[in-house]
Amino acid sequence: MKNAETTVKVDRRREKIRALFNRIAPRYDAMNRIMTFGIDRVWRRHLVREAVSFLVRCGETPAFLDIATGTGDIALAVKRRLPQTRVTGIDISDAMLVFARAKMERDGMRQVIFKRASAETIGSSKAVFNAAAVAFGYRNVRDNDRALKAAASALKPNGRLYVLEFFKPDNLFTRIFQTVYVRCVIPVIARFVAGAASDYAYLGNSINDYDTIKAFIARAEKNGFSFFSRRRFMFGVADLVVIERKAGGRAQARSRTAR
Ligand SMILES: C[S@@+](CC[C@H](N)C(=O)[O-])C[C@H]1O[C@@H](n2cnc3c(N)ncnc32)[C@H](O)[C@@H]1O
Repeated sequence: MKNAETTVKVDRRREKIRALFNRIAPRYDAMNRIMTFGIDRVWRRHLVREAVSFLVRCGETPAFLDIATGTGDIALAVKRRLPQTRVTGIDISDAMLVFARAKMERDGMRQVIFKRASAETIGSSKAVFNAAAVAFGYRNVRDNDRALKAAASALKPNGRLYVLEFFKPDNLFTRIFQTVYVRCVIPVIARFVAGAASDYAYLGNSINDYDTIKAFIARAEKNGFSFFSRRRFMFGVADLVVIERKAGGRAQARSRTAR
């Protein structure tokens, strides 16, 4: 009974998030550029560079999955840099996917598959991807344990998951900076640029409800991954964490510990 209640709650929250992203999709890219002064592009570029340098070592036609792809920037950048890669982008928001497909056509690209699917199920056959990414997605995904398990089973053994996220800051300076920025600056920008102050207030506040980086790594290790590397951006405002699907049931000896 309790399980059924939890599932209903998660489904309701997912619907709420879907509706929110459907509303903000037309202004999503513009808002990102303004809110971060374009730095979000630099962060994504780091992710893509690391993922591509891994994918080139994975054979002739590697497969890459972009989870919570949104308007498709990561998926399209991987395809652009390594055209032989089979790239799939999934998201629960149809409106975000419409913009992703439009971007692909505008760039004269065709072969990225953008489809509606949730991070918790992925909806793909098992162990087919060499690498996957989630950029600013897991904070919105309500059942992270399930989502990590699904990502682990979609990846080949030793496949890598690149997670770029605003984790809950673990140092006071970054926490204060982020709280002031989220409470005072973002709502003003959101009101004028997107007419969506409350949607962005929700998204900003979700940072404080999310895992710290240590908690996230512990969660990933519980759900089929071992820690590989971490890169901090702007004193931990954002982080790129790379985790590796465990080859068997146990953590690999060569995995490093997060500190
Ligand atoms: C902040 S956007 C990030 C989009 C993109 N990855 C980027 O870097 O700009 C979060 C995305 O997660 C998607 N999302 C939220 N919950 C999801 C879920 N359970 N499964 C798949 N996508 C989800 C939203 O629809 C939205 O497009």
